[in-house]
Amino acid sequence: MKNFFSVADVDNLSTIVQEALELKANPNAFRSLGQYKMLGLVFLNPSLRTRLSTQKAALNLGMDVMVMNMDKDGWALETRDGVVMDGTTVEHIREAAAVMGEYCAILGLRSFPSLKDRKEDYSEDLFNKFSSYCKKPLISLESATRHPLQSLTDLITILENTPSTQEVDGQSVSVRAKPKVVLTWAPHVKALPQAVPNSFAEWMCKAQEQGLLDFTITHPAGYELDEQFTQGATITGNQNEALSNADFVYVKNWSSYQEYGKILVTGREWMPTPEKLKVTNRAKIMHCLPVRRDLELSSALLDGPDSLVIQEASNRVWAAQVVLKRILENL
Ligand code: CP
Repeated sequence: MKNFFSVADVDNLSTIVQEALELKANPNAFRSLGQYKMLGLVFLNPSLRTRLSTQKAALNLGMDVMVMNMDKDGWALETRDGVVMDGTTVEHIREAAAVMGEYCAILGLRSFPSLKDRKEDYSEDLFNKFSSYCKKPLISLESATRHPLQSLTDLITILENTPSTQEVDGQSVSVRAKPKVVLTWAPHVKALPQAVPNSFAEWMCKAQEQGLLDFTITHPAGYELDEQFTQGATITGNQNEALSNADFVYVKNWSSYQEYGKILVTGREWMPTPEKLKVTNRAKIMHCLPVRRDLELSSALLDGPDSLVIQEASNRVWAAQVVLKRILENL
Protein backbone atom coordinates (compact mmCIF):
# COMPACT_ATOMS: atom_id res chain seq x y z
CA MET A 1 0.00 0.00 0.00
CA LYS A 2 1.34 3.46 -0.92
CA ASN A 3 -1.38 5.80 0.39
CA PHE A 4 -4.72 5.29 2.14
CA PHE A 5 -7.48 7.52 0.90
CA SER A 6 -10.40 5.25 -0.04
CA VAL A 7 -11.57 1.66 -0.49
CA ALA A 8 -9.81 1.72 -3.87
CA ASP A 9 -6.52 1.34 -1.94
CA VAL A 10 -7.58 -2.16 -0.81
CA ASP A 11 -8.22 -5.12 -3.16
CA ASN A 12 -9.53 -7.94 -0.99
CA LEU A 13 -11.62 -6.80 1.97
CA SER A 14 -11.74 -10.20 3.73
CA THR A 15 -7.95 -10.36 3.68
CA ILE A 16 -7.39 -6.93 5.23
CA VAL A 17 -10.03 -7.61 7.92
CA GLN A 18 -8.35 -10.94 8.71
CA GLU A 19 -4.96 -9.21 8.93
CA ALA A 20 -6.41 -6.55 11.26
CA LEU A 21 -7.92 -9.23 13.52
CA GLU A 22 -4.54 -11.02 13.66
CA LEU A 23 -3.00 -7.72 14.84
CA LYS A 24 -5.78 -7.43 17.43
CA ALA A 25 -4.88 -10.91 18.72
CA ASN A 26 -1.17 -10.11 18.74
CA PRO A 27 -0.61 -6.31 18.77
CA ASN A 28 3.16 -6.45 19.31
CA ALA A 29 4.03 -9.00 16.61
CA PHE A 30 5.56 -6.32 14.35
CA ARG A 31 7.25 -4.08 16.97
CA SER A 32 10.43 -3.77 14.94
CA LEU A 33 8.74 -2.94 11.60
CA GLY A 34 8.37 0.77 12.35
CA GLN A 35 11.52 1.29 14.42
CA TYR A 36 13.23 4.65 13.70
CA LYS A 37 10.32 5.67 11.45
CA MET A 38 8.39 8.85 12.24
CA LEU A 39 4.62 9.19 11.76
CA GLY A 40 3.31 12.77 11.55
CA LEU A 41 -0.39 13.32 12.28
CA VAL A 42 -1.68 16.66 11.03
CA PHE A 43 -5.09 17.85 12.22
CA LEU A 44 -6.89 20.80 10.68
CA ASN A 45 -9.99 19.81 12.73
CA PRO A 46 -10.74 18.25 16.15
CA SER A 47 -10.50 14.52 16.89
CA LEU A 48 -10.51 12.08 19.79
CA ARG A 49 -10.63 8.54 18.32
CA THR A 50 -8.64 9.09 15.13
CA ARG A 51 -5.85 10.90 16.96
CA LEU A 52 -5.44 8.41 19.82
CA SER A 53 -6.06 5.16 17.93
CA THR A 54 -3.62 6.05 15.15
CA GLN A 55 -0.95 7.03 17.69
CA LYS A 56 -1.49 3.76 19.57
CA ALA A 57 -1.32 1.76 16.33
CA ALA A 58 1.96 3.46 15.38
CA LEU A 59 3.46 2.81 18.83
CA ASN A 60 2.44 -0.87 18.56
CA LEU A 61 4.52 -1.02 15.36
CA GLY A 62 7.52 0.61 17.06
CA MET A 63 7.10 3.96 15.28
CA ASP A 64 7.66 7.40 16.77
CA VAL A 65 4.77 9.87 16.45
CA MET A 66 4.46 13.65 16.18
CA VAL A 67 1.06 15.36 16.26
CA MET A 68 0.47 18.82 14.79
CA ASN A 69 -2.80 20.63 15.49
CA MET A 70 -2.62 23.00 12.56
CA ASP A 71 -5.94 24.61 13.47
CA LYS A 72 -4.60 25.73 16.88
CA ASP A 73 -0.82 25.63 16.76
CA GLY A 74 0.14 26.07 13.11
CA TRP A 75 0.38 29.11 10.87
CA ALA A 76 -2.79 29.97 8.93
CA LEU A 77 -2.47 27.97 5.70
CA GLU A 78 -2.88 29.30 2.18
CA THR A 79 -4.03 26.57 -0.20
CA ARG A 80 -4.68 28.59 -3.37
CA ASP A 81 -2.04 28.96 -6.02
CA GLY A 82 -1.19 32.22 -7.71
CA VAL A 83 -2.40 34.55 -4.95
CA VAL A 84 -0.50 37.39 -3.34
CA MET A 85 -0.48 36.45 0.34
CA ASP A 86 -1.33 39.89 1.69
CA GLY A 87 -4.35 38.69 3.74
CA THR A 88 -4.62 36.54 6.87
CA THR A 89 -2.84 33.39 5.63
CA VAL A 90 0.81 33.12 6.67
CA GLU A 91 2.22 29.92 5.17
CA HIS A 92 1.52 28.22 1.84
CA ILE A 93 0.61 24.54 1.78
CA ARG A 94 3.50 23.98 -0.67
CA GLU A 95 6.12 24.78 1.98
CA ALA A 96 4.16 23.50 5.01
CA ALA A 97 3.53 20.03 3.52
CA ALA A 98 7.03 19.78 2.07
CA VAL A 99 8.63 20.60 5.42
CA MET A 100 6.48 18.06 7.30
CA GLY A 101 7.40 15.48 4.65
CA GLU A 102 11.08 16.10 5.46
CA TYR A 103 10.48 15.20 9.12
CA CYS A 104 8.32 12.10 8.63
CA ALA A 105 8.34 8.71 6.88
CA ILE A 106 4.52 8.61 6.76
CA LEU A 107 1.96 11.38 7.26
CA GLY A 108 -1.73 11.44 8.20
CA LEU A 109 -4.02 14.38 7.46
CA ARG A 110 -7.49 15.35 8.73
CA SER A 111 -9.20 18.03 6.71
CA PHE A 112 -12.99 18.58 6.86
CA PRO A 113 -15.03 20.18 4.05
CA SER A 114 -16.23 23.78 4.15
CA LEU A 115 -19.80 22.63 3.28
CA LYS A 116 -20.06 25.92 1.35
CA ASP A 117 -18.71 25.01 -2.09
CA ARG A 118 -19.55 21.45 -3.18
CA LYS A 119 -17.34 21.51 -6.25
CA GLU A 120 -14.32 22.58 -4.25
CA ASP A 121 -14.98 20.13 -1.37
CA TYR A 122 -15.56 17.18 -3.70
CA SER A 123 -12.41 17.99 -5.69
CA GLU A 124 -10.41 17.09 -2.55
CA ASP A 125 -8.08 19.91 -3.58
CA LEU A 126 -6.47 20.42 -0.16
CA PHE A 127 -5.86 16.72 0.42
CA ASN A 128 -4.45 16.21 -3.08
CA LYS A 129 -2.17 19.22 -2.76
CA PHE A 130 -0.86 18.08 0.62
CA SER A 131 -0.25 14.60 -0.80
CA SER A 132 1.63 15.97 -3.77
CA TYR A 133 3.79 18.46 -1.82
CA CYS A 134 4.71 16.25 1.16
CA LYS A 135 6.17 13.56 -1.13
CA LYS A 136 5.54 10.86 1.49
CA PRO A 137 2.84 8.18 1.89
CA LEU A 138 -0.29 9.91 3.16
CA ILE A 139 -3.14 8.42 5.23
CA SER A 140 -6.55 10.07 5.31
CA LEU A 141 -7.61 10.77 8.88
CA GLU A 142 -10.89 12.01 7.31
CA SER A 143 -10.98 14.19 4.24
CA ALA A 144 -13.73 16.34 2.74
CA THR A 145 -15.54 13.35 1.21
CA ARG A 146 -14.34 10.17 2.97
CA HIS A 147 -13.28 8.66 6.32
CA PRO A 148 -11.61 5.38 5.27
CA LEU A 149 -10.05 4.40 8.63
CA GLN A 150 -13.55 4.62 10.15
CA SER A 151 -15.07 2.55 7.33
CA LEU A 152 -12.40 -0.15 7.59
CA THR A 153 -13.07 -0.24 11.35
CA ASP A 154 -16.78 -0.59 10.68
CA LEU A 155 -16.23 -3.52 8.33
CA ILE A 156 -13.91 -5.21 10.85
CA THR A 157 -16.59 -4.78 13.55
CA ILE A 158 -19.38 -6.12 11.32
CA LEU A 159 -17.44 -9.22 10.24
CA GLU A 160 -16.20 -9.80 13.79
CA ASN A 161 -19.83 -9.87 14.95
CA THR A 162 -21.11 -12.05 12.12
CA PRO A 163 -21.39 -15.72 13.14
CA SER A 164 -19.19 -18.06 11.13
CA THR A 165 -20.64 -21.30 12.59
CA GLN A 166 -24.14 -22.65 13.14
CA GLU A 167 -25.55 -25.56 15.20
CA VAL A 168 -27.01 -28.25 12.93
CA ASP A 169 -28.26 -31.47 14.60
CA GLY A 170 -26.14 -30.66 17.64
CA GLN A 171 -23.01 -30.17 15.50
CA SER A 172 -21.21 -26.88 14.91
CA VAL A 173 -20.85 -26.38 11.14
CA SER A 174 -19.15 -23.59 9.21
CA VAL A 175 -21.49 -21.16 7.50
CA ARG A 176 -20.81 -18.04 5.49
CA ALA A 177 -23.50 -15.77 6.92
CA LYS A 178 -24.34 -12.70 4.85
CA PRO A 179 -25.66 -10.04 7.25
CA LYS A 180 -28.07 -7.30 6.25
CA VAL A 181 -26.36 -3.98 6.96
CA VAL A 182 -28.47 -0.79 7.01
CA LEU A 183 -27.17 2.78 6.98
CA THR A 184 -29.86 5.09 8.33
CA TRP A 185 -29.87 8.86 8.36
CA ALA A 186 -30.62 10.36 11.79
CA PRO A 187 -31.38 13.92 12.97
CA HIS A 188 -28.85 16.49 14.17
CA VAL A 189 -28.85 20.18 15.00
CA LYS A 190 -25.64 20.95 13.07
CA ALA A 191 -24.86 20.55 9.38
CA LEU A 192 -22.41 17.64 9.23
CA PRO A 193 -20.21 16.49 6.32
CA GLN A 194 -21.13 13.51 4.12
CA ALA A 195 -17.64 12.00 4.58
CA VAL A 196 -18.61 9.20 7.02
CA PRO A 197 -21.75 8.01 5.15
CA ASN A 198 -20.06 8.37 1.73
CA SER A 199 -17.15 6.30 2.90
CA PHE A 200 -19.28 3.73 4.77
CA ALA A 201 -21.45 3.31 1.66
CA GLU A 202 -18.41 2.96 -0.61
CA TRP A 203 -16.89 0.25 1.62
CA MET A 204 -20.19 -1.61 2.12
CA CYS A 205 -20.92 -1.58 -1.64
CA LYS A 206 -17.52 -3.17 -2.28
CA ALA A 207 -18.11 -5.67 0.56
CA GLN A 208 -21.47 -6.52 -1.04
CA GLU A 209 -19.73 -7.01 -4.42
CA GLN A 210 -17.29 -9.38 -2.71
CA GLY A 211 -20.21 -11.40 -1.26
CA LEU A 212 -19.65 -10.40 2.38
CA LEU A 213 -23.00 -8.72 3.15
CA ASP A 214 -26.18 -7.10 1.80
CA PHE A 215 -26.35 -3.32 2.01
CA THR A 216 -29.31 -0.93 2.31
CA ILE A 217 -29.39 2.86 2.77
CA THR A 218 -32.39 4.78 4.12
CA HIS A 219 -32.81 8.54 4.41
CA PRO A 220 -35.43 11.26 3.99
CA ALA A 221 -35.94 12.86 0.55
CA GLY A 222 -33.21 15.38 -0.23
CA TYR A 223 -30.45 13.45 1.58
CA GLU A 224 -29.37 11.29 -1.39
CA LEU A 225 -25.60 10.73 -1.30
CA ASP A 226 -23.43 11.30 -4.37
CA GLU A 227 -24.10 8.24 -6.58
CA GLN A 228 -20.39 7.50 -6.95
CA PHE A 229 -20.49 6.12 -3.37
CA THR A 230 -23.70 4.07 -3.50
CA GLN A 231 -23.34 1.80 -6.55
CA GLY A 232 -25.21 -1.47 -5.92
CA ALA A 233 -26.85 -0.42 -2.63
CA THR A 234 -30.61 -0.78 -2.06
CA ILE A 235 -31.85 2.75 -1.33
CA THR A 236 -35.25 3.55 0.20
CA GLY A 237 -36.99 6.47 1.88
CA ASN A 238 -38.97 4.03 4.04
CA GLN A 239 -36.95 3.58 7.23
CA ASN A 240 -39.21 0.86 8.65
CA GLU A 241 -38.92 -1.20 5.46
CA ALA A 242 -35.13 -0.76 5.44
CA LEU A 243 -34.80 -1.85 9.07
CA SER A 244 -36.85 -5.01 8.55
CA ASN A 245 -34.63 -8.06 9.28
CA ALA A 246 -31.51 -5.89 9.61
CA ASP A 247 -28.54 -7.48 11.41
CA PHE A 248 -26.55 -4.24 11.74
CA VAL A 249 -27.91 -0.69 11.87
CA TYR A 250 -25.37 2.05 11.24
CA VAL A 251 -26.73 5.38 12.45
CA LYS A 252 -25.38 8.67 11.07
CA ASN A 253 -26.46 12.18 10.33
CA TRP A 254 -25.32 14.06 7.25
CA SER A 255 -26.27 17.33 5.62
CA SER A 256 -27.76 17.45 2.15
CA TYR A 257 -25.52 16.81 -0.87
CA GLN A 258 -28.11 18.18 -3.33
CA GLU A 259 -28.84 21.40 -1.41
CA TYR A 260 -25.23 21.38 -0.36
CA GLY A 261 -24.55 21.60 3.36
CA LYS A 262 -28.18 22.34 4.28
CA ILE A 263 -30.36 20.77 7.03
CA LEU A 264 -33.66 19.85 5.34
CA VAL A 265 -35.35 17.75 8.06
CA THR A 266 -35.70 18.57 11.75
CA GLY A 267 -37.55 16.72 14.54
CA ARG A 268 -37.05 13.27 16.04
CA GLU A 269 -38.98 11.14 13.55
CA TRP A 270 -35.87 9.49 12.08
CA MET A 271 -34.05 8.86 15.40
CA PRO A 272 -33.59 5.08 15.93
CA THR A 273 -35.26 3.82 19.12
CA PRO A 274 -35.84 0.34 20.63
CA GLU A 275 -39.45 0.50 19.33
CA LYS A 276 -38.27 1.09 15.73
CA LEU A 277 -35.66 -1.66 15.99
CA LYS A 278 -38.32 -4.30 16.79
CA VAL A 279 -38.56 -5.16 13.07
CA THR A 280 -34.85 -5.99 12.90
CA ASN A 281 -33.13 -9.32 13.47
CA ARG A 282 -32.11 -8.02 16.92
CA ALA A 283 -29.73 -5.71 15.09
CA LYS A 284 -26.42 -4.55 16.48
CA ILE A 285 -26.21 -0.76 16.71
CA MET A 286 -23.26 1.11 15.27
CA HIS A 287 -22.16 4.76 15.21
CA CYS A 288 -18.73 6.26 14.48
CA LEU A 289 -18.95 8.65 17.49
CA PRO A 290 -19.11 11.33 18.71
CA VAL A 291 -22.89 10.94 19.00
CA ARG A 292 -25.53 13.34 20.31
CA ARG A 293 -27.58 11.25 22.74
CA ASP A 294 -31.36 11.26 22.31
CA LEU A 295 -31.05 13.48 19.28
CA GLU A 296 -29.25 11.24 16.78
CA LEU A 297 -29.63 7.93 18.63
CA SER A 298 -31.63 7.02 21.75
CA SER A 299 -29.74 6.44 25.03
CA ALA A 300 -31.67 3.18 25.43
CA LEU A 301 -29.99 1.81 22.28
CA LEU A 302 -26.57 3.29 23.02
CA ASP A 303 -26.52 1.80 26.52
CA GLY A 304 -28.29 -1.42 25.56
CA PRO A 305 -26.83 -4.91 25.06
CA ASP A 306 -26.80 -4.64 21.25
CA SER A 307 -24.70 -1.50 21.05
CA LEU A 308 -21.31 -1.99 19.37
CA VAL A 309 -20.17 1.63 19.56
CA ILE A 310 -17.36 1.09 22.08
CA GLN A 311 -16.08 -2.07 20.39
CA GLU A 312 -16.22 -0.16 17.10
CA ALA A 313 -14.15 2.72 18.54
CA SER A 314 -11.72 0.20 20.04
CA ASN A 315 -11.26 -1.42 16.63
CA ARG A 316 -9.99 1.89 15.25
CA VAL A 317 -6.55 0.81 16.54
CA TRP A 318 -6.48 -2.35 14.40
CA ALA A 319 -7.70 -0.56 11.29
CA ALA A 320 -4.96 2.05 11.67
CA GLN A 321 -2.37 -0.60 12.52
CA VAL A 322 -3.05 -2.76 9.46
CA VAL A 323 -2.88 0.30 7.19
CA LEU A 324 0.38 1.52 8.76
CA LYS A 325 1.81 -2.01 8.58
CA ARG A 326 1.03 -2.32 4.87
CA ILE A 327 2.56 1.10 4.12
CA LEU A 328 5.67 0.36 6.21
CA GLU A 329 6.13 -2.93 4.36
CA ASN A 330 6.12 -0.97 1.10
CA LEU A 331 8.56 1.81 2.09
N1 CP B 1 -15.08 8.70 14.60
C1 CP B 1 -14.07 9.59 14.63
O1 CP B 1 -13.38 9.81 13.61
O2 CP B 1 -13.87 10.17 15.83
P1 CP B 1 -12.97 11.47 16.06
O3 CP B 1 -13.57 12.56 15.20
O4 CP B 1 -13.05 11.76 17.52
O5 CP B 1 -11.57 11.17 15.61
